[in-house]
Amino acid sequence: MTIPFQLDGAVAVVTGGGSGIGRASAMAFARRGARVVVGDIDRERAQATAAAIVETGGEALAVRADVAREEDLVAVRDQAVAQFGPVAVVMSNVGVLAMGPPESLPVEAWQRVLDLNVVSLARANRVFLPALLDAGRGHVVITASASGLLAYGFDRLPYVASKHALVGVAESLALYLGPQGVGVTCLCPSGVATNIVEQISFHGPASTPRAPDHPIVDADTVGELVADAVTAGRFLVVSVPEVLEEVAERAADPEAYVQRRIAEQSHPGGG
Ligand SMILES: NC(=O)c1ccc[n+]([C@@H]2O[C@H](COP(=O)([O-])OP(=O)(O)OC[C@H]3O[C@@H](n4cnc5c(N)ncnc54)[C@H](O)[C@@H]3O)[C@@H](O)[C@H]2O)c1
Repeated sequence: MTIPFQLDGAVAVVTGGGSGIGRASAMAFARRGARVVVGDIDRERAQATAAAIVETGGEALAVRADVAREEDLVAVRDQAVAQFGPVAVVMSNVGVLAMGPPESLPVEAWQRVLDLNVVSLARANRVFLPALLDAGRGHVVITASASGLLAYGFDRLPYVASKHALVGVAESLALYLGPQGVGVTCLCPSGVATNIVEQISFHGPASTPRAPDHPIVDADTVGELVADAVTAGRFLVVSVPEVLEEVAERAADPEAYVQRRIAEQSHPGGG
């Protein structure tokens, strides 16, 4: 059951909308006529995205918001309602990384990644879902990653854990929301050219995992894919077909797949 959604005239919120995939998705929503509320912990970046939307004839509002704080998401919702009307599209997009060999990663780094990447979705659900359920329409976009479908690299365990969690949560949420008229899209890109390196904390010696060798795409391409998926009511979005080809390879023979990946890792720990 797909639930197509008309972005024209809808109010859309994008967290982490000041840069990269969030910015590109916000702009793609606006090109389809959505009124966009750009939330970001970096106020200037949020304002820059909103200004770019307005310059191209769209409607947008910037709100400084940290997804670690439920009250910030409440402020995003309330300002959206006051300026544009009820929120119909929510893209939970913030993601951070902690990188290093598994034995070097502090528990606090795990907790920060899981809080911002996963628990923030609990906050968004509490703040935004009641209105979508009342209306019986709307769309939720969850930015996961190819790291939610595959063990991308051994140097980023909390990120892989968080993104695997998000894929499962997105699918479960789709089962809950779909019959109530609300669509869900789970975005699982492989490499995208963005500012994500700024969101990485590094721990211990550098390590050199051999990650899946997928092409890198630009953020605007991903933004268009997201807006198309919302419009069509599509659940799963990948950035390149190689992601699903690798998932299919693993599903066909999980043991052989994992053994191939282990054999490819020449010097775990960067030695
Ligand atoms: N770039 C990639 O290769 C790639 C691949 C797969 C998935 N992703 C996912 O895409 C999402 C967006 O990443 P991106 O690559 O566009 O990164 P980016 O760094 O370009 O943009 C992230 C934005 O989030 C904001 N932000 C950071 N912490 C925040 C917080 N606590 N509250 C609100 N805003 C916050 C930053 O200020 C920044 O504007 C992440 O969930 C990431 O895991 C990225």
